[in-house]
Amino acid sequence: MLKIENLHVSYGEATALSDVSITLGEGELVCIIGPNGAGKTTMVNAIARLLPVRAGKIIIDGRDATNLTPQQLCDFGVAIIPEGRRLFTSMSVEENLDIGCYRPGARANRAQSLARVYDMFPVLSERRRQMASTLSGGQQQMVAIARALMAQPKLLLIDEPSLGLAPVIIKQVFETISAINAQGVSILLIEQNATKALAISQRAYVLDCGAMIAEGTPAELRGRSEINAAYFGHGH
Ligand SMILES: Nc1ncnc2c1ncn2[C@@H]1O[C@H](COP(=O)(O)OP(=O)(O)O)[C@@H](O)[C@H]1O
Ligand SMILES: [Mg+2]
Repeated sequence: MLKIENLHVSYGEATALSDVSITLGEGELVCIIGPNGAGKTTMVNAIARLLPVRAGKIIIDGRDATNLTPQQLCDFGVAIIPEGRRLFTSMSVEENLDIGCYRPGARANRAQSLARVYDMFPVLSERRRQMASTLSGGQQQMVAIARALMAQPKLLLIDEPSLGLAPVIIKQVFETISAINAQGVSILLIEQNATKALAISQRAYVLDCGAMIAEGTPAELRGRSEINAAYFGHGH
């Protein structure tokens, strides 16, 4: 589904990612964990074609996606739920959802997609005419998830969905991500909350200082004492 080979990304002279490679099979839920500043958002934005790639390859469904525009990537079946949600806060819930299906292919299935996301998030259906700014943080994250689903993605890139949310809401968000994966959507989940992310992931990568320092199943990573101490210790 997704293959990243030797990715290098930099901001001017500053290298943010060096020699990063990952694979994500069809239907998999894979997470990338790592501390603040590790390069997680850089990675997801490079895959989403929002940042230039200095070297390396991004392959989606066997096709080279390294030089696509974000719009072309959307037509490849890739959608992003960005860090910080990035809603249009002075627009209604439904107007935000409409932005998710602005490409012709997804637009044709608008009614079906709306029914799907309103079924998943009944509260958004009740509040469809309300301005996004009036929603709680958790509801805003639901809108961000729903907006991405409106594009009918095969691959979903999710950046720090737990950011700024209360524990009970985080639990619901992770359950939702699991449920979307169970519907057949491949997911790359980026998270600082390693324990929560690993609990729903089939495999994980650990990113630190722009380099991939470990990978494995959740059980394998928990079994490695240095990884366990650094990422799943107190406070994680
Ligand atoms: N727009 C930018 N310009 C310059 N440096 C940036 C920019 N965005 C991020 N960085 C730097 O790149 C590194 C990785 O950041 P980021 O990808 O946001 O990490 P994470 O998402 O893991 O917290 C950090 O050192 C950060 O300061
Ligand atoms: Mg980030």
